[in-house]
Amino acid sequence: MAGKVKTVWYCTSCGNESPKWMGRCPACGEWNTMVEQPRESRKPASGSAPVGERRRPVQLRDISAAGEARISLHNGEVDRILGGGIVPGSLVLIGGEPGIGKSTLSLQIPLHCNDLRTLYVTGEESVNQVKMRAERLGGDAGQCYIFSETLMENILSEARSMMPQLMIVDSVQTMFTETLDSAPGSVSQIKEVAAQLLRFAKETGVPVILIGHITKDGFIAGPKILEHIVDVVLQFEGENRGSYRILRSIKNRFGSTSELAVFEMTGQGLREVSNPSELLIPMHEQGLSGTAVSAMLDGSRPFLFEVQALVSSAAYGTAQRSATGFDVRRLNMLLAVLERRAGFHLSAKDVFLNMAGGLRVSDPACDLAVICAVLSSNFDFAIPSDVCFAGEVGLSGEIRPVGQTDRRIAEAARLGFRKVFVSSFSSFDKKSAEGIQVVKVADVPALVKALFKS
Ligand code: TYD
Ligand code: MG
Repeated sequence: MAGKVKTVWYCTSCGNESPKWMGRCPACGEWNTMVEQPRESRKPASGSAPVGERRRPVQLRDISAAGEARISLHNGEVDRILGGGIVPGSLVLIGGEPGIGKSTLSLQIPLHCNDLRTLYVTGEESVNQVKMRAERLGGDAGQCYIFSETLMENILSEARSMMPQLMIVDSVQTMFTETLDSAPGSVSQIKEVAAQLLRFAKETGVPVILIGHITKDGFIAGPKILEHIVDVVLQFEGENRGSYRILRSIKNRFGSTSELAVFEMTGQGLREVSNPSELLIPMHEQGLSGTAVSAMLDGSRPFLFEVQALVSSAAYGTAQRSATGFDVRRLNMLLAVLERRAGFHLSAKDVFLNMAGGLRVSDPACDLAVICAVLSSNFDFAIPSDVCFAGEVGLSGEIRPVGQTDRRIAEAARLGFRKVFVSSFSSFDKKSAEGIQVVKVADVPALVKALFKS
């Protein structure tokens, strides 16, 4: 095997391989993401190569439709976003920025699952550090085994002899396999470690939770290149300075995506917030100007949260537009609609927008609350605190209906809201609107009229 070391270039964003350097990855279009790595001298031992006995194609109708038996992780929120517990033999990736709470959550799970024999592999902390953390988190560590190791061969042989009911690996960036020469954390190591864990999970039926770091400016050498290997991708989000953490399902082979779970980081670990509305809607008695409550839906669960806007005269020549938790291009579009379709002059104003609790919102139903918060701040007019909104705004200023309006209305009514604004084109069940006044508006001018009248 003599000869000069051959190298290959990898895109750290999507994992695309190229024989030479390129400024822009042809596969994902990202700039400056190619890194050089030695070409591995031997074929990785994993991949999709068949293992064990040779399989044959089976007719679909002959396959028994036994539903997957799921294992409960005794954490209501995690179970829910997984689709009702973890599926045996599945590989679940939990990604997030350093310090957001991945290790905390993954240690908390086995501590609260006394009936589940768990192997917790840590490549980042010593067993003593894990013990100290476990003491903060409380819970019974009855069946939790801690293994401080980074070599995959050792980890897998230990796991095969112990046969845990759940395995947790923290983190993919610290693990490495002897079959490759490259350093831990390199693209090829990360892919190979994940592929070996996937093979282990599929062969033994042990569910594996894999932790992966994501850096602030994107997905450098990590979870992004694993998304197509693993079964489920959960991503931690949240502002580090705030105490709320949002776990979002980005991919789920066994359930729905766009589910999200809310946690609060406390001195004793992550507390489940099973009713996020109660945290994300305002506590102030008298309405303040610049806030509006949106009835949004994440996957299967409706909840309400506050949109905050601040509109002020631009201090410098060009107006600033900034949005936290909301797409700034969408904000610009909504401002243009207000300007052109309803005659509000906002082009010389700075507009700042913020979603309560560090939430990142993509539900189009929030448009209505966004424009109401902007108008409320602009005119220093407080929207009554028992009013909420659910509707999408179109380019011609029309207000369009959004999915599952009934459930949004019912949730608003349950939380004591007295009035909800929706599109005139929405259809909903009268029953869901018990105890709440539903105001139907067709376009932005009609909304403004109805709002300022209320
Ligand atoms: P951690 O789980 O170590 O983050 P990650 O594994 O994603 O890098 O979380 C670290 C942060 O959480 C740290 O700043 C301290 C804080 N924390 C608490 O506030 N309460 C706790 O009970 C624990 C264990 C951590
Ligand atoms: Mg950690």
